[in-house]
Amino acid sequence: MIIVKSQTEIRKIADACRIVAEVLEGLKSHVTEGMATADIERFVDEGIRKRGAGAAFRGYRGYPSSVCVSVNDQVIHGIPSRGMKLKSGDIVGLDIGTVLDGFYGDAAMTIPVGNVRAGNAHLLKITEEALMLGIEKAVVGNRIGDISSAVQVHVEKHGYSVVRAFVGHGIGRSLHEDPQVPNYGRAGQGPRLREGMTLAIEPMVNAGGPDVRILDDGWTAVTTDGSWSAHFEHTIAITKQGPKILTKI
Ligand code: MF3
Ligand code: CO
Repeated sequence: MIIVKSQTEIRKIADACRIVAEVLEGLKSHVTEGMATADIERFVDEGIRKRGAGAAFRGYRGYPSSVCVSVNDQVIHGIPSRGMKLKSGDIVGLDIGTVLDGFYGDAAMTIPVGNVRAGNAHLLKITEEALMLGIEKAVVGNRIGDISSAVQVHVEKHGYSVVRAFVGHGIGRSLHEDPQVPNYGRAGQGPRLREGMTLAIEPMVNAGGPDVRILDDGWTAVTTDGSWSAHFEHTIAITKQGPKILTKI
């Protein structure tokens, strides 16, 4: 069941989302080569708490951290650790969720560490563009498939592949609500988009094939072919005036 939100509820989701955006923005300058991914956890956890929110991911189905840090061939849900050190040339997916006054916000970005190869910078660019093209389709009267198709077409046009095993989602009083928002599909299909729906749209794009597997930690998704992967996510609201990105500064 898709839960449509009132303006007051959207304002509360936006408050949670603003904190996500501020912490992600802070990470752009905080994340540097030589740092352990556990150092990112500390920055995020403090950033969320000092703004008065809670970390949505910590404890969610047993996930142990406040942030997902997914490096190179890690697609999503990488667990921060002391042993994993960032080096120049890496690409790092950073995914954050907050809860404030009972409402959730969720966003992710993938950033370069030091100097990355041109091909990897291109992967990040195309993935973020795919997210923005998907968001453009999030208008009243369209369908979920219009978002999915816009993402998939852009990704595949550039020779990359869309991960199938994970999808975007509705968001509100829960981190994950209906509907599912796949990053592949056909325009004109799926649930109709209505004013007041709030969605987390989150393409995961592999430079190689689409398949992923889960590491023995039970969480970290990696590409099966070892190719590198990018992830961008925004929480948006569907309004009469069009899509409103809530996780943007
Ligand atoms: N953005 C991801 C999602 O929507 C992050 C969830 S991490 C988890 O699923 F630990 F909370 F599962
Ligand atoms: Co999400």
